[in-house]
Amino acid sequence: MAELPPLDPKRIPRHVAIIMDGNGRWAKAQGLPRLKGHEAGADSVREAVRVCRDLGIQYLTLYAFSVENWIRPKTEVRGLMRLLHKFLTENEYELHEHGVRFRAIGRLKDMPKAVQREINRVTKATSEYTNGTLTLCLSYGGRAEIADATKAIAAKVADGTLRVKDIDEKTVANHLYAPDIPDPDVMIRTSGEMRISNFLLWQLSYAEFVITEECWPAFREVEFHAALAEFQRRQRRFGDIG
Ligand code: FPP
Repeated sequence: MAELPPLDPKRIPRHVAIIMDGNGRWAKAQGLPRLKGHEAGADSVREAVRVCRDLGIQYLTLYAFSVENWIRPKTEVRGLMRLLHKFLTENEYELHEHGVRFRAIGRLKDMPKAVQREINRVTKATSEYTNGTLTLCLSYGGRAEIADATKAIAAKVADGTLRVKDIDEKTVANHLYAPDIPDPDVMIRTSGEMRISNFLLWQLSYAEFVITEECWPAFREVEFHAALAEFQRRQRRFGDIG
């Protein structure tokens, strides 16, 4: 077994966000249909949850389906929805075993009804757990999230419960989809792409970005540790001097 890159236990991030990219390319390289890449990607999701448990990472947020992904071929969208449903049904027991809470954020009403039911059921069944939080971003877009927050804030101004002069950064943050979850410390993107792709636009303001060469299905424990080791080599300044 490959050795795990060493990590400083005192600098484990509290929140890791991941753009799980490259499922299709991984499948193509193996001569497999794209959906097989997504299936192998689901195994990487399971492994990522375990790594977070082992290291004590409290929040893991995964970009599983974007608002833009609906334009993909119908067969792929349907396959992904089926896979999500299966993932929730088959992996709920592991969330119970690890004591990890499940959340989903995004325009969840766009998701098929059966997936919405599973999301609601697993969210409720795991809501009391405190060992960690797995958040899946589904039909998610960073701009959509900020637009939805703006709408909610405007509604409060219109009904007189909020004054325009009291709106500040905290007000916006408090109207995002998951205001209780702290901002990510690190954002990992797999498969070498250097884009943010409308992911957590507000929340990633001060996150370190780590881009890894492996495609998501090949991103397992060793690769996750290597990405965290890279994060630990960075010096975070939050606008201050070094
Ligand atoms: C990006 O790869 C990946 C996605 C659009 C979907 C992510 C989904 C999974 C990892 C599997 C299902 C998730 C869960 C939580 C069970 P891509 O298809 O854009 O890859 P490409 O750029 O190589 O085509």
